[in-house]
Amino acid sequence: MLYLNGQFVRIEDAKISALDRGCLFGDGVYEVIPVYSRQPFRLAEHIRRLEASLAAIGLSNPHHAEEWMALIAQVISLQDYEDQSIYLHVTRGATGERDFPFPANTTPTVLINPTPLVVPSAEVKATGVRAISHADFRWLRCDIKSLNLLPAVLLRQAAKQAGCAECVMFRNGMLTEGAASNIFVVKNGIIATPPKDHLILPGITYDVVIELAQQHQLPLEARRISEAEVRSADELWMTSSTKEVLGIIELDGKPVGNGCVGPLARQMDSYYYEFKQSIMRKPTSC
Ligand code: PDD
Repeated sequence: MLYLNGQFVRIEDAKISALDRGCLFGDGVYEVIPVYSRQPFRLAEHIRRLEASLAAIGLSNPHHAEEWMALIAQVISLQDYEDQSIYLHVTRGATGERDFPFPANTTPTVLINPTPLVVPSAEVKATGVRAISHADFRWLRCDIKSLNLLPAVLLRQAAKQAGCAECVMFRNGMLTEGAASNIFVVKNGIIATPPKDHLILPGITYDVVIELAQQHQLPLEARRISEAEVRSADELWMTSSTKEVLGIIELDGKPVGNGCVGPLARQMDSYYYEFKQSIMRKPTSC
């Protein structure tokens, strides 16, 4: 069962107008929220990022935070599996004609679609994944979690065709992020990641990783990182709600460090796992 515009319906019965602006222009924003044991992970933070994305595109938020929480709790409770990936999007709704400026008085389209959460297996975490790199040819508001995902689609497809899991992007010789993840590098025991600005998505997992590093006294810097630093890093990680903390062992066919998942990636992944367990495996109210 998914939620669409005020109703809980089966996916086969969910209908959206062919003239929905999400469909015509990618005019909308989205979130992906991991749910462990029916507990949404960092829900308040996801809702805050959704609010920021909506405000950035001038789309008024159809729900208060408490309403979003209640809707998401309801969607979670309607599924027969425990660990879920909640995909949520809000578009500027449907109009009678295809016109670029905002139409007057449209009702936003709200979709909340759960699927079983698939995170990398212990084996994949241990072996790590390969990545390619590419120039970051996206726009200059990558801090908005926009539905316009064509660059990510093309780059992830290129990665897939190369037998890789991610595409690491550079803009003007500096690291930005992955096609659908944030990127961390490690050199001489120091973890670094690009700072939050308009060139990257402010990842929820990114924040958790930074907090965990602080908590466990691992040195971490949020700063600009050159392409040369990435190519000579000891370790490279990707982070996201669905990939969690995942080591990248090869970039463009060349080994990262010694070509194995590094000690800090393993350490951070185990902190992340412990954190997940302590926070999420508590008794559920759903
Ligand atoms: N993508 N950067 C980009 C461009 C992303 O698309 C994502 C997540 C992230 C990581 O953000 P978070 O830690 O909040 O998941 C960074 C999601 C998972 C997706 O589009 O499916």
